[in-house]
Amino acid sequence: MRSTNGLVLGIETSCDDTAVALVDVGGTVVASGVASQIEIHNLYGGVYPEAASRAHVDQILPTVRSVIDTAGIDPRELTAIGVTRGPGLIGSLMVGLNAAAGLGHGWTVPVIGVNHLRGHLRSADLEERRVKFPAVILLVSGGHTLLAWMQGPGDIKLIGNTRDDSVGEAYDKVARMLDLGYPGGPVVDRLARSGEVTIPFPRPMLNQALDFSFSGLKTAVMYYLAQHDDWEPKDIAASFVASCMDVLIAKCRRALSQYPAESLVIVGGVAASPQLREQAQILCADLGVSLCLPPLKWSTDNGAMIALATWDYLDVNNATGLEPAPSLTIESF
Ligand code: KG4
Ligand code: ZN
Repeated sequence: MRSTNGLVLGIETSCDDTAVALVDVGGTVVASGVASQIEIHNLYGGVYPEAASRAHVDQILPTVRSVIDTAGIDPRELTAIGVTRGPGLIGSLMVGLNAAAGLGHGWTVPVIGVNHLRGHLRSADLEERRVKFPAVILLVSGGHTLLAWMQGPGDIKLIGNTRDDSVGEAYDKVARMLDLGYPGGPVVDRLARSGEVTIPFPRPMLNQALDFSFSGLKTAVMYYLAQHDDWEPKDIAASFVASCMDVLIAKCRRALSQYPAESLVIVGGVAASPQLREQAQILCADLGVSLCLPPLKWSTDNGAMIALATWDYLDVNNATGLEPAPSLTIESF
């Protein structure tokens, strides 16, 4: 049996994936598992919170069991269990937190509540250490769109935020308008590749500081579809993605001009976007900054990022408690 000395079990249930992984202090992922709920939420065109909690209840223990079995470890020797305590859907968070508390009690292993956003931050160091400080962070997910500046590990300052929707939410809503299913990100990106940028959708707040707004862009797409009947889904997708990219890249450029940084770190589900990855590469080459991206597999929600972040909590001996915290910010521990 493999020695468990130096492994953390990460549990992530903040939204619609039951995700579990075993990770060492260097970010090596020893085993991981995900029970996806896409088929359930696809029926509703978005995440249905009550169904999400119930599916987590069904999947959490089998997913933990399969990860432990794959790794061939004795869980009583784990260094710790790290579990997302927020932000996220309260019912989903509670399932993960209660499961982690029970397992920790049974195995006599400490349990640490982890900020999901700190998890996304650490995803860029999974499998290989990439982040160099100081760093500008762009966190783009279904729940968040923000910019932060990190002078060193744990030293995080929020420098820009969305005033309304996140970019991932805009992707998901546009996908719904085009009847493309859930989640919208990958399918909108794919469709956009075959279309042309023919419609001048707005670039919200392009010239204003570091904040974002995506609600107006989403509404502009909705009005366009209602007022025209000669549109091609692929051109709508291409034009929408072009607007999103122009805004995200312009804000990164501005942040990098205002905050000294060795690297630009892009994390969160939308960091899986090939268009965003390509354009960020061009930006960073132009500015001489290193671009740090999580491996594609670890861009969307996963247990490995929560496990790696848990090591930071152990480092500073921070006891966060195991209460659900649905509205934690990037600056909270
Ligand atoms: O980080 P994440 O898995 O969950 C949250 O913490 O919200 O992000 C999910 C979001 C969804 O809005 C999804 O549409 C988007 O990430 N997403 C993408 C891509 N893959 C996932 N957006 C754009 N392009 C993608 N390839
Ligand atoms: Zn997330």
